[in-house]
Amino acid sequence: MKNEIFQIDDYIFQKKISSKEISKIVSDLANHLRSDYADEEVVYLVVLKGAFIFASDLIRAAGLKCKIHLISASSYGSELKSSGKVELNIQNIDIENENIIIIEDIVDSGRTLKAIIDALQGLRPKSIVSVCLLSKPAERKVNVDVQYIGKEIPSEFVIGYGLDYKEQGRHLQHLYSIKNK
Ligand code: PRP
Repeated sequence: MKNEIFQIDDYIFQKKISSKEISKIVSDLANHLRSDYADEEVVYLVVLKGAFIFASDLIRAAGLKCKIHLISASSYGSELKSSGKVELNIQNIDIENENIIIIEDIVDSGRTLKAIIDALQGLRPKSIVSVCLLSKPAERKVNVDVQYIGKEIPSEFVIGYGLDYKEQGRHLQHLYSIKNK
């Protein structure tokens, strides 16, 4: 069947969440944001690289008055497991008194999101929430609140729709999970 599997090196990835299902998840999240921030301006912080495709769909679907900042965080390196060490690159951004919405593709150990929230607290925003397309609750290593979660998934490595393995697979329209390890 077309687009059912994708191979990177020796790893076979199998289609797990179709683009149609992704669209429904994104649309539901956008509706929640729209009703929660109906008359307010928000500042989106898009966590590169993984969240760039999700964010572009979500931000347009929500249609909120907004500013957008791109920040980068990296924890996986080229591994299948999160490394535990988070590298953040948050340039000088003025978010004082703003409603911040962090957009992440996936929360795994939670370390990246926690590091970002900790770094932002000192910049005195009015509020901070996060919206994540995917969450792996069984992998959580630190306590972090995620206010908007698209879908919870088991502990398996996923690529597609912005998510990568060794920088490959981000372009895929569907989400794929690893089949052989
Ligand atoms: C991924 C993902 C999250 C983070 C989640 O980024 O985009 O930012 O890992 O893992 P954690 O909850 O265990 O911290 P990655 O390091 O793969 O960088 P990328 O987004 O540039 O691919």
